[in-house]
Amino acid sequence: MTRISKACFTVFVYGAVSVGFPLATQAGELTGTLTGTLTGTGDQPIVGALVTAERGDPARGVTVYSDAAGHFAVPGLAEGDWQLRVRRIGWRDAQATVPVPGPPVAVALEAETDPAALAAQLPANRWFALFLEQIEDPTQREQFVRQCTYCHQQGNAATRVPREDWQWEKVLHLMARMGGGLTPEVRAQVPGWFDAAYDPAHAVPRLTAGMGTEAFAPPPPEAVRRAVIDEWVLGGRASMQHDLMVHPSGDVYSVDMMQDELFRLDPETGETKRFPIESDLPLGGVFATSGSPLQPNANARVGPHSLQAAPDGSIWVTLALGNRLGRFDPTTEQWTLYPMSEGFYPHTLRIDDRGRVWFTIAGSNHVARFDPTTETFETITLPAVSWSQAALIRMLPVLFWVFQTFEIDPGEAGEGSGGMPVPYGIDIALDGGIWFSQLNAHRIGRIDPDTLEVEIVETPFTAPRRLRFDSQGRLWIPGFSSGLVARFDPKTRAFETWPIPIEPLGSETPYALHVDHSNDTVWICGTNSDSLIRFDPANEEFLVYPLPTRVTYTREIDFDSEGRVWTSNSNAPTWQIERGQPRVIRLDPRAGFAGDDDRVAAAP
Ligand code: HEC
Repeated sequence: MTRISKACFTVFVYGAVSVGFPLATQAGELTGTLTGTLTGTGDQPIVGALVTAERGDPARGVTVYSDAAGHFAVPGLAEGDWQLRVRRIGWRDAQATVPVPGPPVAVALEAETDPAALAAQLPANRWFALFLEQIEDPTQREQFVRQCTYCHQQGNAATRVPREDWQWEKVLHLMARMGGGLTPEVRAQVPGWFDAAYDPAHAVPRLTAGMGTEAFAPPPPEAVRRAVIDEWVLGGRASMQHDLMVHPSGDVYSVDMMQDELFRLDPETGETKRFPIESDLPLGGVFATSGSPLQPNANARVGPHSLQAAPDGSIWVTLALGNRLGRFDPTTEQWTLYPMSEGFYPHTLRIDDRGRVWFTIAGSNHVARFDPTTETFETITLPAVSWSQAALIRMLPVLFWVFQTFEIDPGEAGEGSGGMPVPYGIDIALDGGIWFSQLNAHRIGRIDPDTLEVEIVETPFTAPRRLRFDSQGRLWIPGFSSGLVARFDPKTRAFETWPIPIEPLGSETPYALHVDHSNDTVWICGTNSDSLIRFDPANEEFLVYPLPTRVTYTREIDFDSEGRVWTSNSNAPTWQIERGQPRVIRLDPRAGFAGDDDRVAAAP
């Protein structure tokens, strides 16, 4: 049985089934492995290609990288037909339907010789670097990065469409309404920068210089190539899976911020269940008409944003648009909502060992503590950057009333949220101290859990975002607009920083990170480059894992008990994501084969 699809893709099926591979024995069992070999023109092996087997609705995909000999083995597949896709920068995507179990397949890839098509294969950050070159003033550049890359990538296909000035005016007006405000000076220059950077006559030759050579798109190293990546589609085109977490039960939960739902995925069976969050709030929640941060196709009244499990197994969720905390009981599957006493836009949360919920309140410069035993909130006002900012924050309730009553667009008023400190990430130190970042104020701080006294530390880099402690009590911080990862030692108050090694340097916008406490490696979101990044502080080595779906914008990372890394594709809007649906992603860094040699031995 030989399958031949389009001219660019040929699958020869070998006559003999290779020995030594576990093949599916019973229908439905996830034990089948799809194996094969990739070659290019002239029969050279294709190394480091992303080989994906996918099927189902909603789709589940499993991806591996091809090894030094061009061999691949996609594990964990149930019996039946799978869609195979092979992707490697410099080569055209190849696709075919293949059976599992089945004999190994041979795939011949065809080189991509069209420069425009090759440039389109590159992740957003490669294009965005051309945009950043246009901005001469470093402060303006920083402002654009911080304000225009926190919902979606910049440089992906949707953002590179050429537009007339009046169309840019409309786009920038819409972005400002949702929170992506810029100062008038920057805003006025944005259309010119876009046109100059993304004009194909300028961009394509720049991006494809050296095409066809070995150096153009080197394969990821062997340590990366052994990883296995699973993807599950959750939610629809109007969804936005903001954050996710691994529950102690092994189930994975994510929140759909634009559809007011909690999703549960059982990774063993692939079964999903959704739990809507009912509320009597209007569309847009408490921000209903105040220049609401709502996307055009949203159905959000409470806007679930971040989630964490408490010691008792219950799940706590910040309801950003509803100014509420939600508690979900996984046993009874019931919700309880707690309206906040103060503040706007509850954001990221952590739970202390007494079960108290600490969370940042991004819109009004607070951190709050909720005690479930007394059902009371304690709200802590953080220092503002200036006296006038403090006054503005105190005015917020009045301003929201004004905006609602007179339908004024706060984004038009200036830099929008860019002018506020914006409390963001939060984590709890070994001594119980609560550490947070103020994203736009470029600083972190500590709250004493007993006295609630606040202490502020300036960061020597811009835009500290979602921070986490390692097992030794050192704080790891991603610098969102500074493209770096930092370690802060609360004892010595010293910072150390490492640039994220995504080329061109400075084109990556790391949104979040998490530290695997079993070995203190740091996993960082490759938010603008469709990747996950691992940093080992012991030898200061970075590993970059390219991910299979274009426009993979990640915002949160968690680990399961086997050391696998979980994240989700949360680009907002979802329609910009390749194939237009959000995905939950699991990367197993130690899976696959022990090394290339094993794969060579096992392959046909
Ligand atoms: C608060 C979230 C958010 C921020 C911040 C944001 N965007 Fe967007 N952006 C969106 C959404 C949502 C859409 C899709 C709008 C739609 O579907 O009509 C979008 C779409 C776009 C598009 C494609 C427009 C189209 O109609 O195809 C461009 C270009 C864009 N944004 C540029 C920017 C720029 C420049 C900034 C910074 C000023 C920015 N974005 C900041 C949420 C955001």
